Amino acid sequence: MDAMEGLCVEGCERCPALVESRSRIVDGVGPDDADLLFVGEAPGEQEDEGGEPFVGRSGDVLDEALRDAGIARADVRITNCVRCRPPENRDPHEEELENCREYLEQELEITDPNLVVTLGKVPSQHLLERDVAVTTEAGELHDARIGERSQRVLVSVHPAATLYDRSQRETFLETVASGAEIAGLADADGGQSRLGEF
Ligand code: URA
Repeated sequence: MDAMEGLCVEGCERCPALVESRSRIVDGVGPDDADLLFVGEAPGEQEDEGGEPFVGRSGDVLDEALRDAGIARADVRITNCVRCRPPENRDPHEEELENCREYLEQELEITDPNLVVTLGKVPSQHLLERDVAVTTEAGELHDARIGERSQRVLVSVHPAATLYDRSQRETFLETVASGAEIAGLADADGGQSRLGEF
């Protein structure tokens, strides 16, 4: 059985190594009509345990950036290029990215977001289909062809990068704030007016 029911992947066994390493398949979370979709690489240990993308330390950084941009996690959709935790958190292999691409493309079709923010090198390269130097290209907006759709894509550093290199923190916060604005979720002042609603 190898199927996607709406936004949930069920029983996929396309990647034998990941079937071994995962505890569960980690689908995207958030509204199925979100204006803003964040795409990470693959679940880590805590995501594999919790069944939700970006709930570990990287998730804390992402949540902080969203708050800083004046939007709530519940307002955005968050997903990964690969839905199963790779062994020892290695990068997903090209074949694994390709195996999972159909699910990501379907998620994009259903959600139809105004903007995709790619969190780090792996999703940036996967969706733009070229080499990306994320630290120099962070904050750049692109029109990409993803499957059948034209999609605006904003390149970002991975939130985990800010844990190892504090100089990436401002870049990350600025990229998320600009993503919220481009997606239509925040005002040009960083969306503080919207935060007041919560
Ligand atoms: N890093 C990712 O790329 N995705 C997650 O879900 C968690 C950490």
